[in-house]
This record gives sequence, C-alpha cells and structure tokens, in this order.
Amino acid sequence: MSDSLQMKSPPESKRGNWTGHLGFILAATGSAIGLGNIWKFPYITGVYGGGAFVLVYLICVVIVGLPLMLAELIVGRRTQKNPVGAFKNLHKKGSLWQGTGWLGVASGFLILSFYSVVAGWALAYIFKAIAGFEGTAEQIQAEFGSLVASTGESIFWHSMFMLMCIGIVIGGVKRGIERWSKILMPSLFVILGGLMIYGLFFTHGGMQAVEFLFKPDFSKLSAEGVLSALGHAFFTLSLGMGAMITYGSYMKRGSSIIRDAVAVSILDTVVALVAGIAIFAMVFSYGTEPAAGPGLIFQTLPVLFQQTGPWISVPFFVLLTFAALTSGISLLEVVVSYFVDERGWGRTSATLVMGGTIYLIGLLSAVSVWKVPFTSGTGWFDFFDVLTTNYMLPIGGFLTCLFVAYVMKDADRADEFGSRGLLYSGLKFFLRYITPIAVLVVILHGLELLPFMEYGN
Ligand code: PFF
Repeated sequence: MSDSLQMKSPPESKRGNWTGHLGFILAATGSAIGLGNIWKFPYITGVYGGGAFVLVYLICVVIVGLPLMLAELIVGRRTQKNPVGAFKNLHKKGSLWQGTGWLGVASGFLILSFYSVVAGWALAYIFKAIAGFEGTAEQIQAEFGSLVASTGESIFWHSMFMLMCIGIVIGGVKRGIERWSKILMPSLFVILGGLMIYGLFFTHGGMQAVEFLFKPDFSKLSAEGVLSALGHAFFTLSLGMGAMITYGSYMKRGSSIIRDAVAVSILDTVVALVAGIAIFAMVFSYGTEPAAGPGLIFQTLPVLFQQTGPWISVPFFVLLTFAALTSGISLLEVVVSYFVDERGWGRTSATLVMGGTIYLIGLLSAVSVWKVPFTSGTGWFDFFDVLTTNYMLPIGGFLTCLFVAYVMKDADRADEFGSRGLLYSGLKFFLRYITPIAVLVVILHGLELLPFMEYGN
C-alpha cells in the first residue's frame, strides 16, 4: 500500500481488533465454512448432477462472491463499524442506505434462528454416532424424522447450540471469536483431511466421487441449477448481510484486503469440495444415490456409518458442529455489534438479550408442527430459509454492491483496497456491471419473475 494512500485513512477504533492477519483469516473462514459447505453443498451438487454444477458454482464464486466479499470488507474496515453504522458513516445520517445495514442485521437474526436448529441436529448426531447406528436402513433413516418431529429433543439441541454461540460471543472479538476460531478451525481442517483420506484411499468410491464432482456433464445442468449455484455462492461465503462488514471492521490497517478475501474464498471452496469428496466416496462405495437431497448427511450417511463404525461417524458430526458453530457466532456478532456500536449496550447484555431473542424465534423452526399462518402448511423453518437465502441476502448483496460501486467515494474505496492498479480497475468493473446483474437475476428468480423459467403457475 502506498504511504500517501495510507496517511489519509481514519484512525483505528478502540472497539476491538483481531490480533493479526491469521486471526481475521480464521474467524472469517470460520464464518464462511459452515452447514452450507458440509450439509448443503454436497446435497445440492448431488441433486443438480455433479461436475457441471460445481463448475458453474466456481464461476459464481469468482464473479459474484469475491467482488462482494471485497466490497463488504472495504466498507467494514473503512468505517470500523457494524453494518448499520457503516452505511451511516459513509453516506450521511438518516440516509436510506442505512436500510441495507438494517436488512443485514435482520438477516443475521433470522438466519441464526433456524441455522441453530440444524446445528442442533448435528450436535445430537454426535451422540447418536457415539452410541452407534443400529437397525435396518429404514429404521436408521426414520430416526432423523423422529428427531425433527420430537419437540422436546429439537428444542433441547437448539438450546445447547445457542448457549455455545452466546458463550463464545460474550468473550468478545479477541478472547471469544478469535480464540475459538483458532481452536475450532484447525481441528476442522484436520478432521476433514482425515475423512478425505479415508474416502479416497479406504473406500471403493473415491475415484467415482472425484469424477462425479469434477467431470462436467452439461446435459445434467438446468437453469435451476445455475441459479442455485449463484444463490449458494452468497450463502456459503456469508455475504449479503454484513457479516464480512462486521468482521472487516475488526481488521487492522495495513493487511491486504484482496489477499485475505482470496484466501477466505479459496479455503471455503476447498472445504466444500473436500467435504464433497469424503461424502460421495462413501455414498458411491455402498452403491447409494448421490441425489438424496437434504437428508443426505442425516439419513443416507448414518446408514453407511453402520459399516464404517464410530471412528468415521463421530469425527464427521463433530466436524459439522464445529463448522456450524464458527458460522453461528458470526451471525450473532452482526446483531450484537449493532447494539453495542449504535445503541451503546454492553457486549454482555447485548449478547444475552439478542442471543435469547434469537433463541425464542428459533423455537418456531424447532417445533416442526408449528406452521406459518395463512399458508398451506409451510413450516417456519422453510419460511425463514427461503425468505433469507432467496430474498434478503441477495437484496442486501445487491445494495452493498451498488453502494460500493456508485456511491462510495473513490478515494476511500481505493485507500482500503490498497492500490489503483489493474486489480482495482477490475474490481470496479465487476462491481459496476457484472456482479449486480448476476445478483439481480437471482433476486428475480426468487420472485419467480424470470421470463425464461417455467414456474408452474
Ligand atoms: N456461510 C455459512 C455457511 O456456509 O453455512 C452461513 C452463513 C454464516 C451465512 C454467516 C451468512 C452469514 F453471515
């Protein structure tokens, strides 16, 4: 970064920082790597046919994910504020752009409420794995149904997960989030590496899994698959709700935003692919279906775990829980940072009150018999999932993109980016023309308004 650019930067705030470069990378990859990578990516890849979907997804990460992550980090580090404060700071008080920050805080709130329910299932499955999966395939698969249907059990595990998130976030940026990310993320990498080695070398499905993920067969790719890949790029990189604004706000000046954003995007993608290899290797080696859908890891895998034993199944669900936990804390941190910065609450009370409120909202998703009023039986879980993933995140991302591309001062933006070279021009080009159009397509698809798609109504 040139000195003349650096001198104009505002001073760092006192509200907490990562201890260094590694602290940020681990916390941000912790946010990005989550249920999206280990639960959702493999199952949607299975549903949409494998290699061609993976290729489209990788392109989406580059043209949508990376530019947006850079945009969020630029806004966060520039302002050293939560999403609402950040937009207020860069535009003017009372500006409508603050709404983008509001939308982000609301998304964090809603996503964590149902995310915690799935994370709770992962936690429950650690204990099921320790006890061992027994019975016929049908019985093992039915166990998942009864966990989801059992109000008491679902609420219990949801409570446990929320308590863990609250316990970590109360500790603050350095002593809570960073410290735990430094423990959980390396453990996650080790477990995942072990599972991949097992899948590749100790099952008969390794090569088939690699082929399934990396050999594109475009005849299997649908428009629906392309749009899911785009939507997933958002969710998996924690974009569109200010999580990266918040984590970026704790970054110290002087580190390279582009290097960090590339590192986080690559790590997130590699983890999704490695998880895919490990899971599909097992799926193929026992001749099961890759397109099992959301039940892939809670229903299909447990049947296979009967053969592998607890040495594989227990680490797998520990991995899933760790991944969910580091994402859960980032969701909570977005909400907490808003109440701390803008409303002057103490961190402890903000975490307890907001964590508690999110927990209560999460009960709606945990109790599967409760349905959204005035719908034909839509569950709250699906309602919040669709509302946030299909609408709130893409809209938040779209607005952030427009803000950084067209509203933010070039001097501020270039200063945070660290140069005005070719890469910077490339980023501006993407943020102005490519990324918003791609995101708009996702939003229109969410609204079932794309003219070339058939929506069946
Ligand atoms: N990126 C997380 C995952 O892939 O599971 C989910 C997520 C976390 C989305 C944090 C948004 C966010 F702010």
